[in-house]
Amino acid sequence: MHVDLYEKFWMWLSGVLLALFAAAIIYTAAAQAIQPPSHVETIDPTTSRTDPRFVSLGVTETADGQQVVVMAQMFAFTPTEIRVTAGRPVTFRLTSPDVIHGFQIVGSNANTMVIPGYVSQYTITFNRPGEYLIVCNEYCGLGHHLMYGTLIVEAPGGEG
Ligand code: CUA
Repeated sequence: MHVDLYEKFWMWLSGVLLALFAAAIIYTAAAQAIQPPSHVETIDPTTSRTDPRFVSLGVTETADGQQVVVMAQMFAFTPTEIRVTAGRPVTFRLTSPDVIHGFQIVGSNANTMVIPGYVSQYTITFNRPGEYLIVCNEYCGLGHHLMYGTLIVEAPGGEG
C-alpha cells in the first residue's frame, strides 16, 4: 500500500516520541528511585479524626527512626510544622477525612496522594538539614493554594 512521505515521517516521529517517553519513565524509576508508595491500609474516613492511629498527630521517636502522623484536610496539614532529624529514616503516615489531597515535600523524593479511606505511608531519609516546603499538589477546592506546611530537618545531635 502507498503511504505518503510526510505521513511516514509523522508516523516515525510519533514512534520515536513514544520510545523516548517510555525510556524517561524507565530511567527515572530505575535510576532515581521514583515509585508510587505501595502501602495499602484502609481507614473509615468518617471516623478518621478519632481513629486511634490518628489521634496523636506529629512526630514520635521509634526504634528505627521517626514517625510522623499527619492529617490532611481542607485546607491545612495538621501539624503545619514538622521537625525531624537528618540522617535517620522518617516514616510518614497520612490520611484525609474529606477529599483527595497531595503531600509533596519540595526538593525531595517525598510525594504522595492522600486519599480518604486510605492511610498513605512511606519512609524517607533526609540527609540535608534545612527548611523544606510542603505543598498539597492535588486540587482540593477553593483553599487549595493555602494548603502548605513546613518541614524542618535538623542536624543530628543539636541545633539545626
Ligand atoms: Cu489539599 Cu490541594
